[in-house]
Amino acid sequence: MRKIVIEGGNKLYGSIKIQGAKNSVLPLLSASILNEGISVFQNVPNISDVAAAMKILRHIGCTAELSGGALTVDASVISTTEIPDGLMREMRSSVIFLGAILARCGEVTLSYPGGCELGPRPIDMHIKALRELGADIHEDAGKIRCIIPAGRRLIGRRIDFRGPSVGATENAMIASVFAQGTTVIANAAKEPEIWDLQMYLRKLGADIEGAGTSVITVRGIDTCAMNVTHTIIPDRIVTGTYLCAVAAAGGEVLLTDCGPTHIESLLTVLRGWGCEINTSKTSIHIKTAAPRTASGSVVAEPYPAFPTDAAPTLVAAASAVSGNFVFVEKIFSERFKYCRELEKLGAEITLFENSAMVSGGKALCGASVDATDLRGGAALAVAGLCASGITEIGEIQHIERGYEDLVRDLRSVGANIMYMNTPERSESAGAAKRTEKPDGAGGGQGRLYA
Ligand code: EPU
Repeated sequence: MRKIVIEGGNKLYGSIKIQGAKNSVLPLLSASILNEGISVFQNVPNISDVAAAMKILRHIGCTAELSGGALTVDASVISTTEIPDGLMREMRSSVIFLGAILARCGEVTLSYPGGCELGPRPIDMHIKALRELGADIHEDAGKIRCIIPAGRRLIGRRIDFRGPSVGATENAMIASVFAQGTTVIANAAKEPEIWDLQMYLRKLGADIEGAGTSVITVRGIDTCAMNVTHTIIPDRIVTGTYLCAVAAAGGEVLLTDCGPTHIESLLTVLRGWGCEINTSKTSIHIKTAAPRTASGSVVAEPYPAFPTDAAPTLVAAASAVSGNFVFVEKIFSERFKYCRELEKLGAEITLFENSAMVSGGKALCGASVDATDLRGGAALAVAGLCASGITEIGEIQHIERGYEDLVRDLRSVGANIMYMNTPERSESAGAAKRTEKPDGAGGGQGRLYA
């Protein structure tokens, strides 16, 4: 079994190049199914969720090759419209294939998606959107079968979401590209990844506007057959992780190839804690000249408010610095499992309903902990940087779903962190499952940076 091992206490100095955004590339890979030409995506992160998306693309007949950060998809031939349960369960974003395969082929069969366990993650809004566009959708024995009635197309309509959902907005945008007439998506999500999807769909010839606002309008077209190149936007959550790491451990780090405007809410919080932060268009410089004090409260809500995915690392940083800090989660009410692991390192966190109250500045001590989910795993690494002694993080396959190489990046700025192979635990835990990376690197299996 592979673990991440950290000896805390080092401050961080240097620079880190930020990877492309997981939550942007995944819906774009689904959307590439609309295109009968070749799509080349650049700045693609080498993460296991991308490997899972490539497996789905290949399963349905596309070619998908990742080389040096460029992922080429040829979706000219689609040979099946059914995605097996095993592939669906590898990640949450598999549900975005619903709208793409339906729009391209007129039918699709798949099961419920997997992904991080953050409390209930229903897909009713995805289904509602496709039904309103005219799809017939039935569920039978756990399989969702979705078809456009024979001889028809999806019909453009107004889709009113009850609240912003990133994934449902993406499914509706993709499905409506080939709908007859105009689709208006109201109460749409406004995340930067939605804007990136719009930019890619426009390159395919789609007539779409409004991304970044709560109303997105799509005027349907007949087909897409374009050879296009698209560069994935920087990952704002990975950016946030490294900002929180510096805020917690101290030091001075330049983050390059990032998008400071996409993570403004976190920059405001960390400045309030006493971090010196300066930005250019594509970089963020963070320095901790004085001790930091966490104070006040932060509420995770849809963009442009504070992102739920940046909260675990912020809570970890609040545990490491002094002060009392309250975090309120308004998107995934049960996203607090990682707090129990932080407590094993000595963090003092009181959970009440959807809030975490952190009494910071307690001495953190290394311990053996497990990543409970992707961002919760990153939070353990942030806390481990500040803990005395050795922190061992297990279940790191969660972290590898979204971070290209957390160890490489933190080590490059002076953290004492490495991968370590340990004897297998019980296979039944499924913990030893080797993470597959798109380029075959195996997520750093076997590397030991001792
Ligand atoms: N919701 C429903 N019904 C639906 C869809 C969503 O009730 O049909 C609810 C959810 O339960 C949640 C809220 O709506 O309470 C918002 O969920 P959303 O659909 O926006 O989330 P998502 O599309 O499943 C994406 C990211 C998540 C991120 C959330 C919120 C991807 C692949 N995933 O998930 O990212 O937390 O938006 O910003 O884009 C991560 O990267 O670690 C991660 C979990």
